[in-house]
This record gives sequence, structure tokens and C-alpha cells, in this order.
Amino acid sequence: MRIPLLAGNWKMYKTVGEAEELVRALLEGVGTPTDREVLVCPPFTALYAAGRLLEGTPIALGGQDMYHEPQGAFTGAVSPLMLRDVGCTYVIIGHSERRQYFGDTDEMVNRKLHAALAHGLRPIMCVGESKPQRDAGQAEDIVVAQVRAGLKDVTATQMQQVVIAYEPIWAIGTGDTATPQDAQAMHATIRRVVSEHYGEETAQSLRIQYGGSVKPDNVDDLMAQPDLDGALVGGASLKAESFLRIVQFRS
Ligand code: 13P
Repeated sequence: MRIPLLAGNWKMYKTVGEAEELVRALLEGVGTPTDREVLVCPPFTALYAAGRLLEGTPIALGGQDMYHEPQGAFTGAVSPLMLRDVGCTYVIIGHSERRQYFGDTDEMVNRKLHAALAHGLRPIMCVGESKPQRDAGQAEDIVVAQVRAGLKDVTATQMQQVVIAYEPIWAIGTGDTATPQDAQAMHATIRRVVSEHYGEETAQSLRIQYGGSVKPDNVDDLMAQPDLDGALVGGASLKAESFLRIVQFRS
């Protein structure tokens, strides 16, 4: 049984005050879910404040990225230790915006993944193809290559901590979501690749989230697919009402 993980990636939105306001509203509406897990990933500057409000509640805290070293002279970077220190239990790694605007490569993603695992953070590793890649019929090859490279030298035991998020780049922030069938096909492919490498048991327990224009009005259909184990939500996670509706998906 895989417990779906509904995660909000707030990206570069929310001041500390705004983050606190959103966290309070989420806490008011979330209840005590037992059949799903809820996570928010505020920007670095708001993590501490959000973490204080979230301590001991059903909502977990995550970072949106991190550097792979625990500390050192790396101006501007934030380490896995620092994320743990403010209450994070998850960290998003290899988001397509990191890959596109900040030059994160598969090799960097793999290093960060190992660093997250070494410091007790659960990595959410993002993979996904661009529109030209999909149009050229390369979507599966691209995603499979990202999965293999990102998971290099990760053990089956460590895989129990890993979440993969399939986020087709063309669906991010566009309102143009993947159809439930297309998403399901890619999720099944990812699970097959993991099964080939780690065995069926590990593959069956792996959670694979879908991300890319997940909204209150499409979440139910997406989550009804057998291999979709939650959502990584951008825009619709910035308001309590829409994120709570996504958290309360019915399938
Ligand atoms: P949107 O939900 O805004 O399309 O963003 C998805 C995403 O990138 C989550 O990480």
C-alpha cells in the first residue's frame, strides 16, 4: 500500500508573513489525514517560521533544493544539515526549473540525492521531458535516462526513502496538464525501470508523484490512475483553498 504524498512547491513565492498565514490556513483545514501525507516546501527564507508552526502537526516540511556538502565556503548555498535543523524531512531535488535556470545536471542531482539520504532527508527527485522532446517521441527515453542517472549507486534500502516526481516540463505552470492516461503510462515506465534495477518489491513500494498544472478540477482523475501516488503542486498550492481541495482528492 503506497500512501499518496500531496506536496506544495511554493517556488519563489511568499514572504515570511505570507508563509505563516498560508501555513495557519492549511493547518485549520487539513484535519488529521491517515490515508495520505501532506507536505509544504516554502522558500528557504520562510522555512524556519513555517517549521515552527508545523512542528507536531500532520503537515511535513521540505526544502526546494540544497547543495550536496554539509557545510563550507559555498556562498549562497544551503546544506542538508541546515534543512534538517529547521525541521525539514523532505527535499525536492532536480526540479526542471533548477535544471533549466541553474544548470543542475543529472550528476549534480545524483550527488544531492546521496547527500539528502546521508543526512536523513527524503529526496523527491524530479524528472520530465520538454515539449520538443515529447513531440520528437523521445519522452520515455529522456525520463528513463534521468531516472537511471539520478539513482546511480542508490541502494534498495535507500530507495525506501526516495520519492520520484514525474513533471513534464510542458505541463508546468501552463494549465496544460498531461492526460491521466499519458501520466499513467510514464509512471508505469518509471516503475518498470525501478523494478528492473531493484526488484518488484522496491518498485511497488516506490511513490511516484505527478506534477504539472495539478488543480482542484483535475486532481481526482489523475489520482484515480494506479501508478500515480500523489502530486507535486506549484501554482495551486499557493492558496489554502485550492491546495486543501487537492489534498482531499477523491478517487
Ligand atoms: P504548477 O502546478 O504550477 O504547474 O507547477 C508544478 C511544479 O513545478 C511543481 O513542482
